[in-house]
Amino acid sequence: MRLIIQQDYKKASKWTANYIARRILKYKPTSDNPFIMGLPTGSSPIQLYKDLVELHKKGVISFKNVVTFNMDEYIGIPEDHPQSYHSFMNNHFFSHIDIPKENTNILNGNASDLIQECANYEAKIKLYGGIHLFLGGIGPDGHLAFNEPGSSLASRTRIKTLTEDTKIANSRFFDGDTSKVPSTALTVGVGTILDAKEIVIIASGNSKAAAIKQAIERGVNHMWTVSALQLHAKSIVICDEEAIYDIKYSTVKYFKDIESKNLNPDNLLKI
Ligand code: GLP
Repeated sequence: MRLIIQQDYKKASKWTANYIARRILKYKPTSDNPFIMGLPTGSSPIQLYKDLVELHKKGVISFKNVVTFNMDEYIGIPEDHPQSYHSFMNNHFFSHIDIPKENTNILNGNASDLIQECANYEAKIKLYGGIHLFLGGIGPDGHLAFNEPGSSLASRTRIKTLTEDTKIANSRFFDGDTSKVPSTALTVGVGTILDAKEIVIIASGNSKAAAIKQAIERGVNHMWTVSALQLHAKSIVICDEEAIYDIKYSTVKYFKDIESKNLNPDNLLKI
């Protein structure tokens, strides 16, 4: 696992956006051979989506031949609810770039048969030949997508009940009222994420410090699903200084040292 440490959220976001742009540019996607991405919601990716939009507006990158699969969606709120992940993705990303609507995939939390919806999602990912790059954020309890503590590390797309901690964390988007946060969601599984060829996680702020410690310094453990990244051949965690607050000084020094030549985000676009 690589750990990229940037000074603050803005810099971490810029590094991540440039890294994604580099990956897409190097892949040279076409309509017959698109670049397949997994995408998150939450506050963590907001700035990097802005940065990707800016790169698109400057003509650096096109999303015409990119296909996306979002990680998760709440069950039971209308697609056009301001806090649905459908709305989030349109507002923060899709409506600002040139991605064709038919290339974007988000789980339908209102499907009449939710189990079938999950099976279809997995099948569609497979049909495309799998995900090239899965971008994610993490919850304060280390959850990846909605894979709450105790989720099987082999899990696939399914229905999950949200923990009270997650409902409290996400209530900031629902007028601070946990009772307005849906109790269940559809989410890709940890196994679905681990199947991607590459995983890129952004974490910012000290509320993520405990999870980052588990992910980087402790063992693989289903109580901190982000730690499953240790089992993946190609994963990168990008943190700001606050998110690494709980890791040992020597660990920080080690990663800063081995990545010292890779920390400047501008170099990522020199292709
Ligand atoms: C939600 C999402 C996760 C996201 C997490 C962290 O629970 N399901 O995919 O990573 O929130 O959100 P934030 O980035 O706002 O801290």
